[in-house]
Amino acid sequence: MIITIDGPAGSGKSTAARKLAARLGIPYLDTGAMYRVVTLLALEAEVDLGDEPALQRLAESNAYRLDPGPTHIRVTVGDRDVTEEIRSMRVSEHTRFIAASPAVRTVLVRKQRELGVRLGSIVTEGRDQGSVAFPHADVKFFLTADVAHRAERRYHELIAEGEDVTQEEVLRNVQERDQTDTARSVAPLVRPDGAIEIDTSRLSIQQVLEEMLHSLHDAGLVNADQLNDDHSAANAGRIGD
Ligand code: DC
Repeated sequence: MIITIDGPAGSGKSTAARKLAARLGIPYLDTGAMYRVVTLLALEAEVDLGDEPALQRLAESNAYRLDPGPTHIRVTVGDRDVTEEIRSMRVSEHTRFIAASPAVRTVLVRKQRELGVRLGSIVTEGRDQGSVAFPHADVKFFLTADVAHRAERRYHELIAEGEDVTQEEVLRNVQERDQTDTARSVAPLVRPDGAIEIDTSRLSIQQVLEEMLHSLHDAGLVNADQLNDDHSAANAGRIGD
């Protein structure tokens, strides 16, 4: 079973994908983490972010590893755990250049499909999962939220991670990412054909999860037990990126 979740930065995709995957007991794939780790490698190797062949080599290399699980995804570079580091503002600000690279996108989409085949069932989230990577997914979701809500969520996440940022900086970063995600020529952020749209602006994570589970139930993919399995304590809390 392949479930895709796409949407702009801060729409709640990652939290929703994690919660849904945990509920279904299948791995979740954070494809943004793939673009982020290639960005980290490029910055550390001082690769020119416009050098397509060099970026392609980095994307194809075994220098990094993603281990998708039902409650977390672990990203490593050699022995180094970079799961947190790839979320820093420095990496966030540069990832859109890597995400605009056709060569990198081709390699990463191929890796995503290979993971889908290897794992069998996944909840995968990103910008192009339902449109490009898995157009034949069993169910596709498209999450939206107004920009102020999305920037506020991201700001609280970054502060919780110890980053020194202002709300204005985060709002600007989210707006810039919206602009580059939707305007780029390769795999722009779009609502995939057949996707179920959920506006998360005024929903708790529990409500988003319930909407998704009901859609999966309607599609015959989860049974009544899975629908009613109440993990409300685990699902409490702020919705994230
Ligand atoms: O979801 P995120 O903020 O971690 O994504 C990081 C960047 O990667 C962001 O600029 C969008 C881009 N991205 C993409 O272009 N395609 C994906 N499937 C996932 C992320």
